[in-house]
Amino acid sequence: MTHGTRHDTGIRAGTAFAARHDRSPAGVWFAPGRVNLIGEHTDYNDGFVLPFALPQRAVLAAGPAAGRRSTVRSTQEAEPVTFSAATVVPGEVPGWAGYVAGTCWAFREAGYPVPELDLELDSDVPVGAGLSSSAAVESAVGVALAGLAGVEVGPTELARIARRAENEFVGAPTGGMDQMAAMHGRAGRLVFLDTRDDTVELVPFDLPAHDLELLVIDSRAPHAHAGGEYGQRRRDCEEAAAALGVPALRDALLDDVERLADDRVRRRARHVVTENDRVREVVRLLGVGTDPREIGPLLDASHTSMRDDFEITVPHIDVAVEAARAAGAYGARMTGGGFGGCVIALCGARDVAAVTEAVEAAYAGRGWTAPVAFPGTPSAGAARLG
Ligand code: GLA
Repeated sequence: MTHGTRHDTGIRAGTAFAARHDRSPAGVWFAPGRVNLIGEHTDYNDGFVLPFALPQRAVLAAGPAAGRRSTVRSTQEAEPVTFSAATVVPGEVPGWAGYVAGTCWAFREAGYPVPELDLELDSDVPVGAGLSSSAAVESAVGVALAGLAGVEVGPTELARIARRAENEFVGAPTGGMDQMAAMHGRAGRLVFLDTRDDTVELVPFDLPAHDLELLVIDSRAPHAHAGGEYGQRRRDCEEAAAALGVPALRDALLDDVERLADDRVRRRARHVVTENDRVREVVRLLGVGTDPREIGPLLDASHTSMRDDFEITVPHIDVAVEAARAAGAYGARMTGGGFGGCVIALCGARDVAAVTEAVEAAYAGRGWTAPVAFPGTPSAGAARLG
């Protein structure tokens, strides 16, 4: 199985809008999902992350509302949802439409005008796979609102608005990586983000030039406890930073971390501190033109750290990582928040089929649902499509 990218999503959102409303939308905008190459659970510790934007994207066609309230429809959902963009506040719109209404709220809170809109949403970012389908929707709404209002809002400000929707409207206590990747992504580039001040450096990542591919393997593992566990990890990190007397774990030294009394808190902090070092080392290696195969051991070390110290992997994920490595991947790790989701494997272009088959065989042997593999290709960030 594959997750094909539907390059016609823009056309579908636009034509669906036109068919329903008997008029063209005022515009069509998109924002992508993301994969994180390395730097997991560092973004809410003022640390470093290195994601890239995927070709899979949320697409939004929008125009002024025919009625007095805003209405959003999604190709993936049966029922439309109606809300007032001018007055909506947190708590009013539950479920999938909360990402849309929440971004309208956050955009308004940032001081910009938000008209009532008719919205048609389509997305080929797999939902629940740790590829930031929700940040893609928020970011698409953000660029659309800026475009419709005719105001210049930079990508970092839009990412902060989108994150505010996620944190304060939807109520998910995430960091800011996903929205920044969706806004700043660029074809052929990684987004090296310092989350302390949101500075971004685009890092070239030309795998085809080295006969390499970054395979994304969706484990399709159910991740029921992800929400609560994520919040618990945040609290562990805050406890560690407080015990160390530093503003955030970004500022902690490994020697001091090793002296923390509580075993669980010590291991959580060790993951964050060593992961920040791994991100910077990957950026250094790629920056001096090292063969990308050389980052493989850092991907492996990141996975081990997530598995043993941060404890956010699950059997489906560990099995995929081990099968990919045994079939010749140069490095493999879970990507995203954890408790399911996707694995990335750095493979020789010629080994992609063997790695995919090895993971499929490992899953079949355990009676698990087949995984879904597709190439992770660094792609463009949010923009207007038409
Ligand atoms: C989720 C969150 C991000 C980040 C990752 C883990 O994707 O949305 O902010 O914390 O988990 O790196």
